[in-house]
Amino acid sequence: MSDEQHTKDNRDQELHDALMREQDEPSNGSSPVPIFILFLFAALCFWGGVYLIQYGGHFHKEAYTFDYNPYAEVAVVQVSLFDRGAKIYNAQCSACHQATGLGIAGAFPPLAGSEWVTDHQESLARILINGLNGPIEVAGRQYNGNMPAFGPNGLNLKPLEIAGVLTYIRQSWGNQASEVTEATMVAYMDQYGSRGTPWTAEEVVMDLSAEPESENLAGAVETTLTEAAAAQSVPAEAIAAH
Ligand code: HEC
Repeated sequence: MSDEQHTKDNRDQELHDALMREQDEPSNGSSPVPIFILFLFAALCFWGGVYLIQYGGHFHKEAYTFDYNPYAEVAVVQVSLFDRGAKIYNAQCSACHQATGLGIAGAFPPLAGSEWVTDHQESLARILINGLNGPIEVAGRQYNGNMPAFGPNGLNLKPLEIAGVLTYIRQSWGNQASEVTEATMVAYMDQYGSRGTPWTAEEVVMDLSAEPESENLAGAVETTLTEAAAAQSVPAEAIAAH
């Protein structure tokens, strides 16, 4: 090795030694965040946002169902008109007509053994949709009161709910008459829903059209399709309550 080369190597060596030895002095104050961290952070935020939009289920409270199976058959929940009607009867009618259907003598007529309940569906539907006023004879006794309306101008039950409650009173306490279907009630509701005044006993049996056909006496099972997700977690009673 030549002398000259040796000297140059030494100089390099010393320079490196100095650099290695003399680190940055500790200093006061803050230094800016390295720009690449900012970029990394921004990229992470962006990715997180995209992920949430794609897999976040729109933050729906039922989106995370532990054993949800998107391939499951759409479940069929069966609620009979009769069962639906029993609930509605207890909530809307039993205060006056009593849970026994016997009413209160002198004030509220009985539904048990009442010909008004088991006769023509149309007059019964009229009584429910628009209410009933004035003197009436039920099961051989006189009454004179006000039966409230449950149609759109009254307590506003839906056709399915009235169909249920009518089916219930026609098939309870020894009464044996056909069910009243939702379709039948939809038709009556179209016809009488806009009427603003209650019926009288004479009026309510006039101009009846042919009795709709339905022969089911046992309490038909009416089928309701619900979304698969709802059916997996919501019991039938909860749906019937709506
Ligand atoms: C606020 C008390 C009251 C409520 C609530 C009530 N009713 Fe009545 N209901 C009466 C009265 C009073 C009459 C008799 C009206 C008259 O004298 O003209 C009557 C008459 C009837 C009749 C015809 C007569 C008979 O006894 O068969 C039927 C049917 C009837 N109601 C069914 C129902 C059903 C179903 C419900 C619930 C959806 C209901 N009512 C809710 C007071 C009530």
